[in-house]
Amino acid sequence: MELKAKTEQIVTALLDWFAANARDLPWRRTHDPYAIWVSEIMLQQTQVKTVIPYWDRWMRELPTIAAAANASSDQLHKLWEGLGYYTRVRNLQKAAQVVLEKHGGKFPQHFDAVLALPGIGRYTAGAICSIAFNQPMPILDGNVIRVVTRLFGLAENPKAKNANAKLWKIAEELVAHAKTQRRQANNSPVRTFAASRRDNSCSFLNQSLMELGALICAPRNAQCRICPANQLCVAFKENRVAELPNLGKREVATTRRFVAFALEWNGKFLIQQRPSGVVNAHLWEFPNLEVTGGKSDTQAAFKTLFSAKPEVIQPLATVKHSITRYRVTLEAFLVRLTKTRSPSSPLKILTCGTRLSPRWLEPHEFDSVAFSSAHKKLASAAAKSILSNR
Ligand code: ADE
Repeated sequence: MELKAKTEQIVTALLDWFAANARDLPWRRTHDPYAIWVSEIMLQQTQVKTVIPYWDRWMRELPTIAAAANASSDQLHKLWEGLGYYTRVRNLQKAAQVVLEKHGGKFPQHFDAVLALPGIGRYTAGAICSIAFNQPMPILDGNVIRVVTRLFGLAENPKAKNANAKLWKIAEELVAHAKTQRRQANNSPVRTFAASRRDNSCSFLNQSLMELGALICAPRNAQCRICPANQLCVAFKENRVAELPNLGKREVATTRRFVAFALEWNGKFLIQQRPSGVVNAHLWEFPNLEVTGGKSDTQAAFKTLFSAKPEVIQPLATVKHSITRYRVTLEAFLVRLTKTRSPSSPLKILTCGTRLSPRWLEPHEFDSVAFSSAHKKLASAAAKSILSNR
C-alpha cells in the first residue's frame, strides 16, 4: 500500500480506537501545559499506575509553575522520592525558573521555546505541544518506536541514525495527517475531559500511539488479535512481531556490591546526604561503601568509613536493585553504639570527604527526608530494629 494511504488508515484506526479505549488519566482532564509537562517527565521514569499518586501529590503541593520554581530542594526531592533519575526533577525546577524569568510565568507555546527549556528534549517538547496545544508535533519514545517499527516492519536498529530519522519522519507524517482530520471527540468516552471540547486530533493521535504501545503493542505478548491496526501491521502479517523492534544486543549487566551501616545511638540513626554531581544527588542514605571482596570486607568497610573498630555488627537487611546496567546488592548491618558514648568520638563520621551534613534522626523523622529507594527500605528495617529492641 502506498505510504500516504497507509498513514491515513492508521491514523483513522488509532483515533477511533483511542476515542473508545483511552484510559481516564488525571492529566488527560486538563489542557494546562504545566500539568502535562509534569506528567510527561514522571512518565519517563515509570508506568502510569505508579505515576498517578506522585502526579496528584505534586499538583496539590505545587499547583503552578511559580510554586515549582520556588519550592525548596527538600520538598522537590521528597515529591520525587522513589521515582528515580533525580536530575529530572532538578531540571524541571530550573525550567520553571526560566519560564518565570523569560516568559513571564506563562508556559511558552512555540515548539523551539519549549525545546530550549532545561530537561526538555524533542520527545517531551512534542508531547507537550501536541497534548496541551494540539500542535502537529511528532513524538517518539520507546512505546512509539515499538508501535511504528512493527506497523511498518522496520528491521533496522531504531537507535541507528538513519533508522531513527526515518521513525521521526513517520511520526511526523502520522500527526500531520491527524491535524487534517480536525476530529471532534464528542462521541468518545473521553467526552467528559475538558479536552474534548475542542479539536484534539493531534493530541489524541500521539496519545493513541503511547496508549497502544502501553496496552496492546507490548514488548512481549503483544495483543495483536485485538489491535485496531492489525490489518495494517507488517510485523503482524509477516509474523515478525516478536522480532521487532530490533534493539541489538543488550548491554551485559555488571554486578556491584555495597555495604551500608545503620549506626544507632540513643534511638537515633546516622544518615548522610549525597553530594551534587553523583547518582541520586541530594538524597539521603545510610553511610555505605562499595566492596569488592567477600565477608571480611564488612569490618574493613566500617573502618574505612568511621576510622574505628566496629562494635557488634548484626545483619540488618539485604536489598537488591538495578540502576542502568548495574545489578546492585546492598547489604546493611546494624551497629548499636553504647548509650554513654558520644557519637562523634571515636567515630570520625566525616572521614568521607564528599559527605554533606550528616544527621542523627529518630525513625519517626525518616519521613521528613528523601531517601533513595534502596535506602528507604533500609530505613524501614532500621525503624523495625528499634521496635524489636524495646
Ligand atoms: N506515556 C507518556 N506520556 C503518556 C500519556 N500522556 N499518557 C499515557 N502514557 C504516557
